[in-house]
Amino acid sequence: MREAETGPFLRRMTLSDLPAAMEVDRRSLPKPWGERIWRDELTSPFGLYLALEQGDEVIGQIGVRSVLDEMHITTIAVLPEHRRRGHARALIWATLAAYPDARLVHLEVRPSNRTARRLYASLGFRETGRRPRYYGDEDAVLMTLDLSEGPSGGGR
Ligand SMILES: CC(C)(COP(=O)(O)OP(=O)(O)OC[C@H]1O[C@@H](n2cnc3c(N)ncnc32)[C@H](O)[C@@H]1OP(=O)(O)O)[C@@H](O)C(=O)NCCC(=O)NCCS
Repeated sequence: MREAETGPFLRRMTLSDLPAAMEVDRRSLPKPWGERIWRDELTSPFGLYLALEQGDEVIGQIGVRSVLDEMHITTIAVLPEHRRRGHARALIWATLAAYPDARLVHLEVRPSNRTARRLYASLGFRETGRRPRYYGDEDAVLMTLDLSEGPSGGGR
């Protein structure tokens, strides 16, 4: 089938996505989540996990947890062969659209992950702190998007 007939499209993830989620993670992140964490996240009533699907394959994913007017992006990844086509940006926009009352969006990122930091900065995220040894082998940079500041690269 041609690509246009098979996606990519976004949908909510379920527990049946566990193997695909772990595979995207494994191919994308230095410390992928284990099965137990993925199982807890995919079944949590407090989270939103979206898959970007093309053909029968999950090519990207994002996870968000939300409390009151604050969102926390817990994970985001796009398979290497599908990167630099705007998929990560689309995944973030989709979660923002799902929580129209959100005011602040937080996430942690490795200081060494320039690609991801550039992505977040392009959407209006600012560096707002550090979490020492968050990843064990590295600190985390805390980045925050303040949606009350008005329109930004975030698209709202
Ligand atoms: C970070 C990641 C999710 C980006 O996914 P992507 O689909 O390639 O990103 P997009 O195509 O939506 O890029 C959006 C913007 O991010 C920035 N960006 C993305 N990849 C970049 C790269 N390789 N170099 C420089 N800037 C980059 C650019 O500003 C880009 O906009 P542009 O293409 O108009 O210049 C992907 O590289 C990935 O999965 N990395 C491994 C997992 C990871 O690091 N997750 C984040 C953990 S905090």
